[in-house]
Amino acid sequence: MSWKINIGIIPALLLLTITPGMSLGHGEDPHHWTEEEITVLGGLSLDALPDKPSVPSNRFADDPGAARLGKEFFFDKTFSGNSQVSCGTCHRPDYAFTDNLPLAHGMGFTARRTMPLAGAAYFPWLFWDGRKDSLWSQALGPIESTVEHGISRTFVIKVILERYRSEYEAVFGGLPGFKGLRKLVARPGLDSPEAYKAWITIPREERENINRVYANFGKAIEAYVRTIIPGPSRFDDYIRAVLDGNDQEAKRLFTPREAEGLRLFIGKAKCTGCHTGPLLTNSDFHNVNVPDREGSFDRGRADGIIAVLSDEFNCLGSYSDAQRRQCGELRFIDTDTEKYAGAFKTPTLRNVADRPPYMHAGQIKTLREVLEFYGRSRNPELGHGGLTKEEIERLEAFLVTLSGPILSLED
Ligand code: HEC
Ligand code: HEC
Repeated sequence: MSWKINIGIIPALLLLTITPGMSLGHGEDPHHWTEEEITVLGGLSLDALPDKPSVPSNRFADDPGAARLGKEFFFDKTFSGNSQVSCGTCHRPDYAFTDNLPLAHGMGFTARRTMPLAGAAYFPWLFWDGRKDSLWSQALGPIESTVEHGISRTFVIKVILERYRSEYEAVFGGLPGFKGLRKLVARPGLDSPEAYKAWITIPREERENINRVYANFGKAIEAYVRTIIPGPSRFDDYIRAVLDGNDQEAKRLFTPREAEGLRLFIGKAKCTGCHTGPLLTNSDFHNVNVPDREGSFDRGRADGIIAVLSDEFNCLGSYSDAQRRQCGELRFIDTDTEKYAGAFKTPTLRNVADRPPYMHAGQIKTLREVLEFYGRSRNPELGHGGLTKEEIERLEAFLVTLSGPILSLED
């Protein structure tokens, strides 16, 4: 997926109001932007966000009934081993759909930090390592993780039969009959011999029915998660003012320091090398050398590639609604595991100031410390060659302007 396509939509007329080739040094008006800079800014605005990509693997992705049902699933703690964990436990709507922990906590502690959800509908790969290729198959992961929801797909079917039968059937059609649901631990996870044995002793046809209903459970959740999107921030208002040539409004919206931070972000600090497009991410995987947590070793994307290719719920699997030719991302996946060792998904920077701590395992506590980390780094992929204290302060001031409301399906 490329954001570059959006740049062309900026009306050429607006560019004429800016003196061509103007370059600004220290002490000059921070609200003056060159033509080239204005083009870049236009591509970062939410106004340039295209429609959500369609989901060939889930024909219910934009079904309003599925989204309402998915929202109920998302917040229902019955889908957990101790009746205390829902998706919303870690993805808290009051905390930009993430939580305030370095490592997420459900039934136990996970090895990574909770990710924000606003704009997730736009990402071809999900999780820090991209081990899922759709939001519906993503949703099936935490359910069977012993440290998250801590239940099985068989347990999910039981809850749907008991509490959601009519709502489920209204969206997905009649439920099949099930015989073997006494074995509520049954799941094919290789981490538990007991659960695996219970799973393979269920007749094959019933296992397939369980998988189908379980996939639909995920498809409803995807329909809901797709409605979670970022709303306009002060940054978007500022860009609009700049594109309109409304200098006065631009000065009202951004302090000189915030504008200088933005100039660094798209310029000398080279942040848009990865944090680009309206969601401030290229949706790709990079190793920016964040130190592992003590005692852990995480290969990131290198392991995610194998996991997504072997996932029974991927775009090419039996429970996907897609034609083979519609699974381009998966079929043409870059399998260079050496290149992706220790690489993690570039996170969106929308609402970033509202949701510390940071990085894939919450290794960094504050935004200031993230910038100090970047400032010290000489990683050639970052390409900025170091940042001064002053530059760090400006970048921080700018990042705070990326906060805005987060929209999602209302009750
Ligand atoms: C115990 C806390 C916890 C629970 C419960 C939980 N999540 Fe997450 N979520 C996480 C963590 C941690 C990650 C990153 C995991 C990783 O990369 O390995 C994540 C990642 C995600 C992502 C990927 C976002 C992206 O940009 O790639 C989505 C979407 C998501 N969760 C949705 C859900 C849904 C839907 C549920 C319920 C079925 C759920 N989560 C339950 C903690 C949780
Ligand atoms: C080479 C690509 C790349 C460049 C360039 C880059 N970043 Fe990042 N950024 C990432 C990746 C990848 C992560 C996640 C790393 C991890 O968790 O291991 C990240 C994480 C972050 C985070 C933490 C967000 C969160 O939710 O945890 C912030 C803030 C951030 N970057 C800001 C910046 C700024 C400011 C710049 C410019 C100085 C910059 N980045 C340059 C790829 C990049």
